[in-house]
Amino acid sequence: MPRVVVTRRLPEGGLDPLVAAGVELITNDADEPRSKAELCAAAADTDALMCVLSDRIDADVLAAGTGRLHVVATVSVGYDNIDLATAAAHDIAVCNTPGVLDDTTADLAFLLILAASRLAGDAERDLRSGRWAGWGITQYLGQDVHGATLGLVGYGRIGQAVARRASGFGMQVRHHARHNTGVPGYVADLDQLLAESDVVSLHVPLTDDTRHLLDAHRLALLKPTAVLVNTARGPVVDEEALAVALESDSLFAAGLDVFEREPAVHPRLLAAPRTVLLPHIGSASHATRTQMAQLAAKGVLAVLAGRRPTNLVTTAPGGNSA
Ligand code: GLV
Repeated sequence: MPRVVVTRRLPEGGLDPLVAAGVELITNDADEPRSKAELCAAAADTDALMCVLSDRIDADVLAAGTGRLHVVATVSVGYDNIDLATAAAHDIAVCNTPGVLDDTTADLAFLLILAASRLAGDAERDLRSGRWAGWGITQYLGQDVHGATLGLVGYGRIGQAVARRASGFGMQVRHHARHNTGVPGYVADLDQLLAESDVVSLHVPLTDDTRHLLDAHRLALLKPTAVLVNTARGPVVDEEALAVALESDSLFAAGLDVFEREPAVHPRLLAAPRTVLLPHIGSASHATRTQMAQLAAKGVLAVLAGRRPTNLVTTAPGGNSA
C-alpha cells in the first residue's frame, strides 16, 4: 500500500480521495510547519508528499526522497516553493492546484482593490483605536473604483477572473502578459501599462523573471493617485521601495495579501499610510481550500497509479503558468 505524507492539517474532506483509495496516510494534525529535517525524513520514507506553499521542498528534501518518492503535490497554484529542476532530475512528479481557486482569489483581489482605493484600512484602524472623532466631509477621501483604469500584470486564469469583476464595476481593463494575448486591452509594454493605470493588480507567478518586477524604478512610474494590489507572491514587489513610495505620497495606496518574507512583514510597510494588509488569504474559503486539497490528492493518486495527472506541473523552471 503506498504511503502519502501530508505536511500540514488540511480542510475537512480534503483528503477524501486518498482515504477512498485506501493509501497509508500520515498527517500532521497539529498544523505546525515541519522543519527541514522533518521534511527530509518524511521524503525519505514515503511514496508521495502533499505539502503547502510555506513548505520549502528544496534540493535536499528531494534528494532525501530519491528512490521511493514519486510525487510532490503542493496544495497551492503557485509552486515556487518546489525546486522543479531537482524534482525533474530525480524523476519526481510535481502537482499543483490550478483552476479551482481562480474566482475565490479574484474576489480577494477585488476586495483589496476596493478597500485600498477607499482607504478602508486606515479608516477601520482609526475607528477601532478610538481616533475617529466624528464624521467630517474631508475625511478618508479615496479614489473612485468605478470608471478607473485597471492594469492587470499577468493575464492567466486569476487575472482574467479579476477582469470580469472589474467590468461589472465599470472599470476600463487593460492587461500586460509576456506574450500577446490577442485580447482587447493587451499592452505589450509593462512600463506603459503601469504609467497609465489607476489601479494595478499583480497576477504573475514568482520566477527569476518576476522577482522584484515592481522595483523602485517601476514603482516610480505609477501615478501618485494609483493603487497597487498584490495577491500573487510577495517578492514580485520590492517591499522597502513600496513603503518609501507610500511614505512619500508618490503612490496613493496599496492592498497586499502576500509579502516578501512571510510571515514577517517589512516594518516600514506595517507603518506606512494607506495600506490594507492581509495574511495570505487569497484562496481561503471553505469550499475552495477543500477543492484544492482534493485536487492535489487526485494528482498524487494519478502518479501513483502510473497515470498523467491533469494538474502535473510541466512548466520549465522560470516559466509562467499563471
Ligand atoms: C496561493 O498563494 C496559491 O498559490 O495557491
